[in-house]
Amino acid sequence: MGSTVAGVISEVTVEQRRQIDHIIESFDGTPGRLIPVLHETQKVLGFLPPEIQEYIAIRLNIPITDVHGVVTFYSLFSEKPKGKFCIGVCKGTACYVKKSQKILEKLEELLGIRGGDTTDDGKYSIEVLRCLGSCGLGPVMTINEKVYTRVKTDRIKEIIREHEEWEANKDECS
Ligand code: FES
Repeated sequence: MGSTVAGVISEVTVEQRRQIDHIIESFDGTPGRLIPVLHETQKVLGFLPPEIQEYIAIRLNIPITDVHGVVTFYSLFSEKPKGKFCIGVCKGTACYVKKSQKILEKLEELLGIRGGDTTDDGKYSIEVLRCLGSCGLGPVMTINEKVYTRVKTDRIKEIIREHEEWEANKDECS
């Protein structure tokens, strides 16, 4: 097929375009390739805008509704760019046992979005994460690169507020 990502979405950089085309080609003929292609593409762009979903559907020769269905079904995938504060909740086994689902639900309630989504003002995203290697300290939550351990649902609001202050001070000092 002669089409390239450049003809579908103009905002991606030349290097990103090259990487996405390479990803699609590297999974050529692989059964069940849709999810890995989406996953690798999201690593390149940080999210999966509708135009890219359409491009992937064309290149993989599958209906756009199938691609969109997968993107919206799995909280791993996001259709919007990540927010300024990307809040991750570990759903690895140890954290799950320590009720990380409650942390996720509380965050969803506080921010008014679901896991994998971003607030309309672009300030917050919620990400569902796999094991972060701090299983003994679960449930584990992250905000950008910072890790918070033994998180309690009634502390979440405070943790977010403290983190925002910390980042603001960090920016002022740098
Ligand atoms: S399961 Fe959450 S850090 Fe390992």
